[in-house]
Amino acid sequence: MARSRTSYFCSGCGHEAHAWSGRCAGCGEWNTLVEAPQAAPQPAAGPRGGRARGAAASTPVALRDVSAPADQRLRTGILELDRVLGGGLVPGSLVLLGGSPGIGKSTLTGMALGNLGAAGHRVLYASGEESPAQIRLRAERLGEAALAVPTITETSLEAVVATLEAERPDVCVIDSIQTLHAEGLSGAPGSVGQVREAAGAVMEVAKRLGSAVILVGHVTKEGAVAGPRVLEHLVDCVLFFEGERERSFRTLRALKNRFGATSEVGVFEMRSGGLVEVEDPSARFVAEASAAPGSVVLCSMEGTRPLLVEVQALVAPTEIVPPRRVANGIDRNRLAMILAVLARHGGPALGGADVFVNVAGGVRVDEPGADLAVALALVSAHRGEPLADSGGRPLACFGEVGLTGELRPVGHADRRVAEALKFGLAPVIGPRASEQLDGLAAADTLRAALKASNRRGVRAVA
Ligand SMILES: Nc1ncnc2c1ncn2[C@@H]1O[C@H](COP(=O)(O)OP(=O)(O)OP(=O)(O)O)[C@@H](O)[C@H]1O
Ligand SMILES: [Mg+2]
Repeated sequence: MARSRTSYFCSGCGHEAHAWSGRCAGCGEWNTLVEAPQAAPQPAAGPRGGRARGAAASTPVALRDVSAPADQRLRTGILELDRVLGGGLVPGSLVLLGGSPGIGKSTLTGMALGNLGAAGHRVLYASGEESPAQIRLRAERLGEAALAVPTITETSLEAVVATLEAERPDVCVIDSIQTLHAEGLSGAPGSVGQVREAAGAVMEVAKRLGSAVILVGHVTKEGAVAGPRVLEHLVDCVLFFEGERERSFRTLRALKNRFGATSEVGVFEMRSGGLVEVEDPSARFVAEASAAPGSVVLCSMEGTRPLLVEVQALVAPTEIVPPRRVANGIDRNRLAMILAVLARHGGPALGGADVFVNVAGGVRVDEPGADLAVALALVSAHRGEPLADSGGRPLACFGEVGLTGELRPVGHADRRVAEALKFGLAPVIGPRASEQLDGLAAADTLRAALKASNRRGVRAVA
């Protein structure tokens, strides 16, 4: 009788080893190897169905001779989702949708399937997480279209694949890839071996049938999509749904997209009737911005779209050594750098104070252009002076702060300024742009920017 061999997979990078060791030889991470019993030995074939030695060679074809249907993307009817996907779902593509628990992955995919079904496409929702009654409850919130979506609740990979073959849907959602269980493998569902196997099998049928498949994926403590990184290589598109669960704003961004830009971001708000697209998020954030000390509006870019968000800071004296540095929505290292530059170049030294920085609304800004906003919010919080003008309108700014205290240009200055002008937030403090921009109060250094903001604050107080 054949003995089943055990092998070990790295849960970080997917590296396979024959013996357990504390450190993965593939990525060098510690304690990531997990046991995954191997399936029966595969026939001698490559991972993509390659043939054994001695098989006939394939004939290469020039790309212009490959038949490709004209752009026939499947529009999900959710504009923000379509935009992040690069114009809609591509038939036969595999999309991985990651996000933390309860963020709204099932809601988003349920709505998308409802719309696609209503538009006459064949759809299928395969859930391994919830009972049909629970799924129905959600669909009732989402409306008539979502109630019409054909649904199966199944955790067996073989059964899901068989259903795909039988139903041949245009679009299928598998919620979630971690719940699928391949019979040939004895690892627990969600283990590296199982997730790899399930994603591989689903990809094979999806490509063959031309179905677009959205795989919902869980997210680990560290924020990566659970399962090996190979999953991210396998799929065509990796979307990440994030936001604070307690706040209603959610952002959807593409980490990888074979058919579009990865810079696009969609903003949603969770309401009782499902996720609502926020078409003009700037208006929301500016309306919510306060005129209190420590608040400033950042003209940020989310992909190709300018977005005004409020950055808030609180500075409180402390006896704790080292003092606390808490950053929500911005990078913690960036905050440490800004504090150091402030202390050196014209700002207060905050070594004896706890510092909290928060981007309001649960938004994350991952761009250096946020530096100046953080710096100005900190100074305003430290001095207890608001940056808003006498009319209570908040100060808008953007720009990267360099280590030598200079203010460095960032991309799309014109769009950032234009967005602020739209909401009457001129003048905007920012780095000098390559061309003259109306409404931009250009500053070359952090010191100059502080001075400009200070004048404004004093005027407001006076
Ligand atoms: N009646 C309601 N009104 C407003 N929001 C609601 C309502 N019911 C549920 N929600 C929101 O929907 C979220 C759950 O959505 P959903 O089930 O789509 O999340 P999920 O990402 O699929 O979660 P899981 O990881 O458990 O699968 C809740 O966290 C809550 O924020
Ligand atoms: Mg769910």
